[in-house]
Amino acid sequence: MEAIVLVGGQGTRLRPLTIGTPKPMLPAAGVPFLTHQLARARAAGVDHVVLATSYRAEVFAAHFGDGSSLGLRLDYVTEREALGTGGGIRNVADRLESAPGDPVLILNGDILSGHDIVAQVAAHRAARAAVTLHLVRVADARAFGSVPTDAEGRVTAFVEKSPEPVSDQVNAGCYVFSREVIDAIPAGRVVSVERETFPELLQSGRLIVGHVDDAYWLDVGNPAAYIKASADLVRGVIASPAVDLPGEAWLADGTEVVADAQVCGGASIGPGALVQAGARVDGSIVMTGAGIGADSHIVRSVVGRNAQIGAGCVLVDAVVGDGARIGAGNELAAGARIWPGITVPDVAIRFSSDI
Ligand code: GTP
Repeated sequence: MEAIVLVGGQGTRLRPLTIGTPKPMLPAAGVPFLTHQLARARAAGVDHVVLATSYRAEVFAAHFGDGSSLGLRLDYVTEREALGTGGGIRNVADRLESAPGDPVLILNGDILSGHDIVAQVAAHRAARAAVTLHLVRVADARAFGSVPTDAEGRVTAFVEKSPEPVSDQVNAGCYVFSREVIDAIPAGRVVSVERETFPELLQSGRLIVGHVDDAYWLDVGNPAAYIKASADLVRGVIASPAVDLPGEAWLADGTEVVADAQVCGGASIGPGALVQAGARVDGSIVMTGAGIGADSHIVRSVVGRNAQIGAGCVLVDAVVGDGARIGAGNELAAGARIWPGITVPDVAIRFSSDI
């Protein structure tokens, strides 16, 4: 089976981490996030993947090459100007080898999901659907467009987000398209599958099936979700064929964690990073070449590539961009985002509760 993975978005909610690195290439449990999706697609029987790239397109091929290390054939198609989700799908159509009527798997490049892809494809074939969407039920659907279905699982509408959602089912960002539906998307312009392609299919009487599966699912769109995704992968809360042995922490080869430092809660420490004496890194992502000073506490935070955190700092739910330098004794609280290359002097930022 073939798959298309949409990886062309700018990842604005994850800035500044996505200034230098596109969201699907950010490390999660020690490998680019996209690796987990590709490995899951492979495990579900996919052998050929076309990556629909746009933003920072060059880094994907530089890392994954022809895909053979993952047991896949990988192709890359780059949009000169971002074409949106539907436009991105249409733009790769001439690289597909599937015949009309064949199912093609389509994944958003920022979804971490344990749902059963094989069962979704089987449901699509059994119903002879135009499109079969993975749907998840969420406790609070107000932040999402909702996707109600009838008793047979047929999608009845795509409803914009509202304070009173008509259904708790939301689009989970993994679709099976019948090949000819891809070819029918208008070429060469911006198209949104959610706002244009799916509603038009319904209007023209085509069958869209909602495949509800409540396995682990996370939209890795903002820093909190990215940090949780990586920690869940490290700890095995969500299994990934790309993670060897789940545990409390993932340490790259060549990482130095001084003896009495603590790395826990699904934290990952990238190659060449250094965690000094007395420091505690809990549920956080410390990227390549970063340094954590003595006695610092880093909780549910991201420390970007080559960023340096001084001694005695506290970071909780914070993001420090690549190459930033945080002086000793700073405290960065929830939501703090330090831009790449910035230098924060010693004891310059404290939690507001201290004031
Ligand atoms: P935000 O800017 O933070 O909303 O993130 P995003 O740019 O990733 O947008 P969004 O989360 O809505 O995108 C969902 C998926 O579609 C992601 O995997 C994106 O990489 C991908 N995507 C979004 N827009 C485009 C596009 O214009 N072209 C391609 N090829 N992929 C896209």
